Amino acid sequence: MSAILKTYPDPETLAAAFAQDFFDWLPDQQRVCIALSGGSTPKLLFRYWAAHDRIDWRRIHFFWGDERCVPPDHADSNFRMTKELLLDHIDMPQENIHRIRGEDEPEAEALRYAAEIASVVPMENGWPVFDLVLLGMGDDGHTASIFPNKMDLLKSEQICAVAKHPQSGQQRVSLTGKVLNHAGQVALLITGAGKAEVLREVINHQGQWEHYPVSFVDPAGSLYFYLDAAAASKL
Ligand code: 6PG
Repeated sequence: MSAILKTYPDPETLAAAFAQDFFDWLPDQQRVCIALSGGSTPKLLFRYWAAHDRIDWRRIHFFWGDERCVPPDHADSNFRMTKELLLDHIDMPQENIHRIRGEDEPEAEALRYAAEIASVVPMENGWPVFDLVLLGMGDDGHTASIFPNKMDLLKSEQICAVAKHPQSGQQRVSLTGKVLNHAGQVALLITGAGKAEVLREVINHQGQWEHYPVSFVDPAGSLYFYLDAAAASKL
């Protein structure tokens, strides 16, 4: 993992810096395919994008790295969070928004979503090549919805898989490890002191690093860790 680590004093500064890097990075191709992460960390970025809207969203396609198997208006829905904080505030064509249908039967949706991805995202050797995958990291080292109790999803031959949150039992539809690692660029946004110890083990290949799915995010393209000082405090 040849990762580039970028550390910022606080989550707000991190979000602004990522937004600037994203703006500078945006390729001028007609279609840019991005997989968004869920959870709480991206909220600051989505709010920043909505408040500083200077992007031509018409050539950007949003997908999700994972989604909870709940309706799109459910409090747990990653799509709902993104819609409220970002999509309702920018000019992105509806056809560019590719949500995972959390309200549908998970196994069927995993197959449907994989087909939708394959019909929009450029494919190489049978794998979609996202221009950018945004990820977070749980305090158990999971990423997307690849949890430590399902490390086999890192090597799955499927584009999407059904996962289950180890504590809550909530079902998720998630991109699999090979999709993450075929991306042109992966950016992990990680904040908070609660992530510091796992992050130390992941970055230094120490302790339990081999039990954390995030340790195996190693894309063909670029890998960035955007960290706040609290998350980076043990590096
Ligand atoms: C989800 C996310 C998940 C998230 C991590 C970190 O659906 O919850 O995709 O992988 O990125 O759990 O979550 P926080 O940003 O809330 O710490």
